[in-house]
Amino acid sequence: MRDFLSVADLGVDGLRTLVDVAGQVKSNPERYSDRMAGRAVGLFFMKPSTRTRVSSELAAVQMGAHPVVLGQHEVGLGTRESVKDVARVLDRYLDVLAFRVFSHGDLIDLAEHANAAVINLLSDAEHPCQAVADLLTIEEHLPLAKATVTYVGDGNNVCHSLMVGGAMLGANMRVVTPLGHEPDARFVELSRLLGGHVEVTNDIAGVDGADVVYTDVWASMGQESEQASRAETFAPYQVNLSLFERAQPSAIFLHCLPAHRGDEVTDEVADHARSRMFDQAENRLHAFKAILLSVFE
Ligand code: CP
Ligand code: NVA
Repeated sequence: MRDFLSVADLGVDGLRTLVDVAGQVKSNPERYSDRMAGRAVGLFFMKPSTRTRVSSELAAVQMGAHPVVLGQHEVGLGTRESVKDVARVLDRYLDVLAFRVFSHGDLIDLAEHANAAVINLLSDAEHPCQAVADLLTIEEHLPLAKATVTYVGDGNNVCHSLMVGGAMLGANMRVVTPLGHEPDARFVELSRLLGGHVEVTNDIAGVDGADVVYTDVWASMGQESEQASRAETFAPYQVNLSLFERAQPSAIFLHCLPAHRGDEVTDEVADHARSRMFDQAENRLHAFKAILLSVFE
């Protein structure tokens, strides 16, 4: 069984197939209604979640699998029990271990000690399930190979997966961040190694002429204490109407959500006629079905 810890795990052809399958699942969900029959899928959350929690559970149920949802308060990953033992125990019951964690290292430990497929539902390094939905949403607007996609804000987990995934599928990727908040250089290098084009800058001119403008919160889960200091640093990078208007007149706006309206995005952009953030949220469901199917191939 394959793991899905990073958007790069399946290679360029595998990611291309994953996004295509997500689109096919969206068009014909009934065709996939028993594809996971008899499978048991564990969904573990160490942090809050709305989209990931609901889309992953429903994706499993709508394909005939049985989901078991677990929280940190009951499992005590790394506190009540070691990551290694949790992996070896859950492996006896479950076919898939889909985990949302703080440290990406916990996912690597799980994958090392479980035969079940391990799926990353968000870590400090990546959010690959989000990226598959993002790529599907972009392709509903224009082909990735023709798209200039500008991510504005914090060079975080969501940024890493979007940047690598978009670059893998031929998009012209731009990342615009305040000084000191650039994406991890390892992910920039990975994007380029995989043949992609990525430009990282501190200049908001990186939004000019983009086909897609994407942002995420300035302080991720676990960084709440930095919220106030970051607000000042990130203020010039707010996606407001004047920033959004620097992009193409046909450009779409994306946000993985939850949004902090008034911080990284204003209401007028979030609710703009060209905002696609709720399509993006819906696409999490179709994307997760494709990801579940892919781990059994
Ligand atoms: N976008 C996303 O992962 O949302 P949740 O944190 O609500 O799951
Ligand atoms: N970067 C955000 C994404 C939430 C879906 C976080 O990690 O909190």
